Amino acid sequence: MRNLIAKAIDVVLSKPRGDIYKEMRLTPEGAEARRSASPGPIEELFFANQGRLVHKWIHYLPVYDRVLAPYHQKPITMLEIGVSKGGSLELWRKFFGPDATIYGIDIDPACAKRVDPPNQVRIGSQGDPAFLRKVLAETGPPDIILDDGSHISSHQRISFEVLFPALKPGGLYMIEDLHTAYWPRWEGGYRRAGTGIELVKALIDDMHGWHHGRGARFAGREWVQSVEIHDSIAVITKGAPLPAPGHFSTGHTPE
Ligand SMILES: C[S@@+](CC[C@H](N)C(=O)[O-])C[C@H]1O[C@@H](n2cnc3c(N)ncnc32)[C@H](O)[C@@H]1O
Repeated sequence: MRNLIAKAIDVVLSKPRGDIYKEMRLTPEGAEARRSASPGPIEELFFANQGRLVHKWIHYLPVYDRVLAPYHQKPITMLEIGVSKGGSLELWRKFFGPDATIYGIDIDPACAKRVDPPNQVRIGSQGDPAFLRKVLAETGPPDIILDDGSHISSHQRISFEVLFPALKPGGLYMIEDLHTAYWPRWEGGYRRAGTGIELVKALIDDMHGWHHGRGARFAGREWVQSVEIHDSIAVITKGAPLPAPGHFSTGHTPE
């Protein structure tokens, strides 16, 4: 009964939020006005894009620029869930350079025609663990995984559970558009168990597993090095694995 009431409240409250998503679409002038004062290369590439369509919330761009800076023009392996018109894979190619290995996953077979080699697309659902494992067998351990796919809670969870363990130690796992965690049509609801936002909160608990001793819900505590959360985008860094945290003092106590 309680769940039903909570769900009904979510439906009522999130309906206008869904409309707000449309209202939040910026005009070209509005997008321009939000450009950073000193944009990084990803933000520059996004605004200069004359190629295939790429669709991003503007505030993600400086986040990418900061967390991906160490990978600029490096021979990394990236896996992006959600290809759509192919523009984001094109942008990543320009940013990471010719020696990077870049794969996209999409459920829509039309996406296979929307990329140029050496970028590659595999068609299947991010909610299908067998498909994801097949893709991993081809890519090997990725350095960077970006989930910009269906944004459905169970899909985000399944993808994380299958892909995060395969990420290289030190690698990054990013989840976009986490606002769907509040929208019933995406299996969301305010503080509803199982959403992408609740996954991220659980990872924060997992990271602190040393201190509460309850074990990890998603990833081994020694593997979650950091969880960075902004509006609708999370960047999870995989550890090396990490030793238990330890503390120490230097200096002396004043008399
Ligand atoms: C938000 S768009 C991706 C946008 C693209 N990354 C960009 O930045 O321009 C989401 C994509 O996810 C795909 N998608 C939807 N459900 C999926 C699923 N279950 N598995 C994989 N891809 C899915 C859609 O076909 C769509 O192309």
